[in-house]
Amino acid sequence: MHLSHAHQASRLQLNDHGQLRHFLSTEGLSREMLTTILDRADSFLDGHGGIRNEPLLAGRTVMNLFFEPSTRTRTTFEVAAKRLSADVLNIDISKSSTSKGETLRDMLWNLEAMTADVFVVRHGASGAAHFIASQVTPHIAVVNAGDGRHAHPTQAMLDMLTIRRHAGGFENLTVAIIGDIRHSRVARSEIHALQTLGAKEIRVIGPRTLLPRDFEELGVNVFEDMTTGLRDVDVAIALRIQNERMESALLPGSSEFYGLYGLTRERLKVASPDVLVMHPGPINRGVEIESEVADGPNSLILKQVNYGIAVRMAVLAMTVEGQLAAQAAVQSRVLEGDAQ
Ligand code: CP
Repeated sequence: MHLSHAHQASRLQLNDHGQLRHFLSTEGLSREMLTTILDRADSFLDGHGGIRNEPLLAGRTVMNLFFEPSTRTRTTFEVAAKRLSADVLNIDISKSSTSKGETLRDMLWNLEAMTADVFVVRHGASGAAHFIASQVTPHIAVVNAGDGRHAHPTQAMLDMLTIRRHAGGFENLTVAIIGDIRHSRVARSEIHALQTLGAKEIRVIGPRTLLPRDFEELGVNVFEDMTTGLRDVDVAIALRIQNERMESALLPGSSEFYGLYGLTRERLKVASPDVLVMHPGPINRGVEIESEVADGPNSLILKQVNYGIAVRMAVLAMTVEGQLAAQAAVQSRVLEGDAQ
């Protein structure tokens, strides 16, 4: 039987009651589920720029397994877990015994024996988080913190929270994602989330070599020119050039890229006057974005980072709750079996 990517993704992510048990991808999750994540994240914001502490994960252990570098994602997962009163372990992969030949599966089993409850995983291979979720024992939740070119679902959800809080919703929005779409796990997760949440139009803008080959399947409008692509957009999301994921030289050079696709004040003149400017970070000033735009009045780049804590708190809390509910259902079936 052939299952679509979306169906496979949702099957692994949800328990029998439709609750989140792993968070691997925005693809395949319902509007109701994405909205629940946003509402839960909102509940952690105190309305004064702060984030509430809630001891929902006291006694639980969150392990950060980052096989690729990270500043924002790893740190905000750590802050989020601590705000929920979890114990947090950051496994230093470069100093781990994988360098002595230990397989990923053996490493996971050993970490499970140290009473992990959640693995937060970043890996260079697309599908790594799905693989890990399919291997771990049932009480462990796996959260994808970015896998290859495939997905970065918590980044997409913090971007959705930023848009919802600053634009009020999705229905009337035209959103442009600019730059290296082809190699971007952020763009893929954002496109699935924006479609599910009902954005009016999603555009991707970039040179042909950096645009997705499957854009018709993705349901986005493609522009190779910034002036037409940015016209009347409500949200402009610039992306980092993913040099580490390019198989060959797909770009003439960073200064030529900036000359054609850099997000500048001049280019933004055709966008909506209140355009929201976003970037997942890390930003390369003078390559993807002009400093005056990154630091300007329409920029939400640092707000995105702050909302990332609340979104990651929501995802950690929801996946652990989903795992506990799944375990309780298994135990009650065992007890019913014993009673018969
Ligand atoms: N946006 C993002 O994933 O940033 P980091 O690589 O610093 O985690």
